Amino acid sequence: MVTRHSSTGNPSLSEARGCDTSGLIVIHTMFRRLFTDAPRLVREVASGDTERSKVIGNHIAEIVSGLHHHHQGEDLLLWDRLESRSPACAIHVKLMRSQHASVAALLEQLDTAVPVWQRSAAPEDGAQVAALLDEVRTVLFVHLGQEEELILPAASTSLSQREWDELGEYGMAGIPKNRLMINLGFVLEAFSPEERSTWMKANVPGIARALYGLFGRRQYASHYRRVYGTMPS
Ligand SMILES: [Fe+2]
Repeated sequence: MVTRHSSTGNPSLSEARGCDTSGLIVIHTMFRRLFTDAPRLVREVASGDTERSKVIGNHIAEIVSGLHHHHQGEDLLLWDRLESRSPACAIHVKLMRSQHASVAALLEQLDTAVPVWQRSAAPEDGAQVAALLDEVRTVLFVHLGQEEELILPAASTSLSQREWDELGEYGMAGIPKNRLMINLGFVLEAFSPEERSTWMKANVPGIARALYGLFGRRQYASHYRRVYGTMPS
């Protein structure tokens, strides 16, 4: 099916409905990994070690904000379009909206609990942060799986590639410039070292690939080691 270009009224190839949604699976893989590791990272911080609670708390705040922004993009750019173009999908969109609301409520609680723990590094404050992260992981994993199963097939036939790409652009715009390379490093964790350059060539602009090779990979490795205590694979 071909839609009409809104400004010209002429059919446009770029507006043909149908898009490749596989990039979202890569982002989901990143969030699954980050939110699987997060509660353990918090529980490993020793009582009173505020230097460490600051490092891990900043990491948690960053992934919480990344997830929140990712969901905002879907709320703004995906749900209404799907509801109007694929009415059979409306019930699934309703489910997605309510899951996003559940995740957002937990993320808001983390926004409050993390700074308290960062200042105190008290075991009871850490336990509260870790318990919230456990809950996020549980709710999030159900949500991501259902989004892949119920939403992506409808999105891949209802949205144009340009519309789908707006999601990625919205996501990128929310990342501070000095954290772009670190985010790319976490995205690349979805792939084996051998698959990474193939994926980069297909998905990352040449200039960003060059910058990642020049300094980004080292910036990511140093951040990763500070958070995880080991070098990335
Ligand atoms: Fe979502």
